[in-house]
Amino acid sequence: MKLSNFSYNFMARYLFLITLFLLVTSIKSDFTHIEDPSGTEFPQNLPIILNVQTYDDGTTLVHIIRKNATLASCTVGLNQVGLNLERILRIRVIKLDGSVKEINLDSKFDPLNYCVFSDVTKVLRNPIVIYPLGNQYILITYIKAKNSSDPTTYEEWGDVIDWYGNSKSTIFLGPSYTSTDGLWMPESTIQLNVNKKLGFLRLSSVRVGKSGWTERQQYSM
Ligand SMILES: *[C@@H]1O[C@H](CO)[C@@H](O)[C@H](O)[C@H]1NC(C)=O
Ligand SMILES: *[C@@H]1O[C@H](CO)[C@@H](O)[C@H](O)[C@H]1NC(C)=O
Repeated sequence: MKLSNFSYNFMARYLFLITLFLLVTSIKSDFTHIEDPSGTEFPQNLPIILNVQTYDDGTTLVHIIRKNATLASCTVGLNQVGLNLERILRIRVIKLDGSVKEINLDSKFDPLNYCVFSDVTKVLRNPIVIYPLGNQYILITYIKAKNSSDPTTYEEWGDVIDWYGNSKSTIFLGPSYTSTDGLWMPESTIQLNVNKKLGFLRLSSVRVGKSGWTERQQYSM
């Protein structure tokens, strides 16, 4: 009897806390931003939000893509087919006052970076990934290939840019991973340090010939 009373009280308190939590987190605000279609060759293809990231203060980074209307598909790695994107990296910085900074980087990266494909494990991969770094910087990871038909020559690189799109530094991160049968499987992950001023960590698989291993790297800013 006592025990069930106890759990009832406990439950009631627990539910109360959950309600309070929902009240606190359900503060909502609306935001509208219109993408100017004059800046694209493919205004008929609507912009698609691929990735949303936030800085500690709530400033938001949005990675926007458009499908390339000239050709629907692309190939990367060992004839791995993907969705062909417009070759512009579009990042929108949504500031806390509701204003938006537009960053459009044209033809800066190897064309294979504009191909979203699903790898052997059916995971959707976009070669370009963006991350917020402390103090108004953005980390962009992407691929450089010595031979775009040979995924064992693919390398992962990182660029740190500011909110004006200016490049601050370029870093070679490591070779990109291929499966034992030679298919491209970029599966490295980047985790920002809890204290973003301290940079980020990278976990990656490395293959040289038949042997492979896992590597952990730390990058400071
Ligand atoms: C669209 O795709 C074609 C074929 O891959 C390519 O030649 C062209 O540069 C792309 N256009 C843009 C704007 O990305
Ligand atoms: C690029 O890679 C392909 C596939 O492995 C190979 O057939 C071709 O010879 C390579 N090209 C060069 C310039 O090395």
